[in-house]
Amino acid sequence: MNKEKIGYGQACGKIILMGEHSVVYGEPAIAFPFQETYISTKVEPNITLVLDCHYFSGELSEVPHQLNSVKEVINQTLKTLQQENTTLKVTITSTIPAERGMGSSAATAASIVRALYDYFDEPCTQEVLLPLVNGAEKIAHGNPSGIDAAATSGKESLFFIKGHPLEPFPMNVSNAFLIVADTGIKGQTRAAVRDVARLFEQNKQSVSQHITELGHLTKLAKQAILTDDVHKLGNVMNQAQEQLKALTVSNEQLDQLVFTARKNGALGAKLTGGGRGGCMIALADSKEQAVKIAAAIESAGAVATWIQSLGVKN
Ligand code: MEV
Repeated sequence: MNKEKIGYGQACGKIILMGEHSVVYGEPAIAFPFQETYISTKVEPNITLVLDCHYFSGELSEVPHQLNSVKEVINQTLKTLQQENTTLKVTITSTIPAERGMGSSAATAASIVRALYDYFDEPCTQEVLLPLVNGAEKIAHGNPSGIDAAATSGKESLFFIKGHPLEPFPMNVSNAFLIVADTGIKGQTRAAVRDVARLFEQNKQSVSQHITELGHLTKLAKQAILTDDVHKLGNVMNQAQEQLKALTVSNEQLDQLVFTARKNGALGAKLTGGGRGGCMIALADSKEQAVKIAAAIESAGAVATWIQSLGVKN
């Protein structure tokens, strides 16, 4: 047992600006790492293989089923490193609200893989990292597009298409401020993705129209960003929210915060991530307006808000 060695890994939250759900069906999405929130993992020698996190402390083999994706990523990473029989203590600390559409499950997996690779002094490239994180995401979410793994483990904004090479994309809009607000209600990504798939089976024609339209709006959002047009970006965000509602992935609390944001001057507002709870985002064209919108959203029930400038490259 290497008594001296400690491994560290980190990954941050993510925000999907446009394209959640439709990205599962091959349409593009725009996402960026959200460095305001992050997860850290520490790996150190121990006499048995144990996990210590907010939800559980004990033998890895005894984790509750909600932590199966964590167990899986630790076991798979040790297997990839050919260290299956090594015993360790894995400690996870997080500032990413869990199950709020901020990619906490993907970020947890990415920070674990990085910490284990660091512990064994092996380079952790994206080629190594992404399949391991996506394996964990399959357990957590059923049918992940891979966007959460890519956005939480990278440093740049992405124009993401499932199965395609990652396309970094400059998120650089003048006078654009994004308010991120947490409804305080656990999102239900797994159920929402499954229900959209069911809807698709029941009514292929109308559901595929919503999905295609979401893809089209994402491409318009890309153009709006590239032409520095904050008003157009807000407009397509509003349209995307209507399509997401039609796919049944919004809910009353999200709709209420979206309504409040728009009433207080937001240029656009929509849910972000899996939906059915979790977080929403709103766009403002000045910091002052963003502060005003954030205060109004908090009065309407949001439990936390963040303001992120889109004017700097992420
Ligand atoms: C979840 O953050 C985003 C979804 O599109 C699912 C996925 O892409 O894996 C809802």
